Amino acid sequence: MKVFITGGTGFVGRSLTPSLTRAGHEVTILSRSGKGAEKLLSGVSFIEGDPTQKGNWQAVAKDHDVVINLAGPSIFTRWTEETKRKMRESRVMATRIDRYWDADKRRFTGSK
Ligand SMILES: NC(=O)c1ccc[n+]([C@@H]2O[C@H](COP(=O)([O-])OP(=O)(O)OC[C@H]3O[C@@H](n4cnc5c(N)ncnc54)[C@H](OP(=O)(O)O)[C@@H]3O)[C@@H](O)[C@H]2O)c1
Repeated sequence: MKVFITGGTGFVGRSLTPSLTRAGHEVTILSRSGKGAEKLLSGVSFIEGDPTQKGNWQAVAKDHDVVINLAGPSIFTRWTEETKRKMRESRVMATRIDRYWDADKRRFTGSK
C-alpha cells in the first residue's frame, strides 16, 4: 500500500516507517523541513509542507491509500493555552483539512 505519514520524522514515525518499508509498503513523509529531513530515513519519499495548513501536499496525500497523522508538538511541556492550541491544531486540523479537500473535490466533481 501507499502510506502517507505526517510527522513521520518524529519518535514514533522513525520506528514505524522502517517497519512499513520492510513489509513492502511505499511511504511518503510530510515534513515542515522537506528534503532537510531526508537524512533521518532512507527508502522513503519526502514532501515539504505544514499539515496544519493547506498546500500542494494535499494532492500528493490524495494519491495514497492510508494517511497516518503523527504530527504535533510534544505533550511533554507546560500545558499553557498557547501550547494546547498548537497541540489541537496539529493533531485535529491536519485531519480536518484533508476532509475539507475531499469535500471540495466531491462538490467540484458533482457539479460537472
Ligand atoms: N512518543 C510516545 O511515546 C507517544 C505515546 C503516545 C502517543 N504519542 C502521540 O503520537 C504522535 C507522535 O508522537 P512522537 O513522539 O513521534 O512525536 P515527535 O517525536 O514530537 O514528532 C512529531 C513530529 O511532528 C512534527 N511537528 C512538531 N511540531 C509540529 C507543529 N507545531 N505543527 C505541525 N507539525 C509538527 C515534527 O515533524 P517535522 O518537523 O518534520 O514537520 C515532528 O517530528 C503524537 O500525537 C503523540 O502525542 C506519542
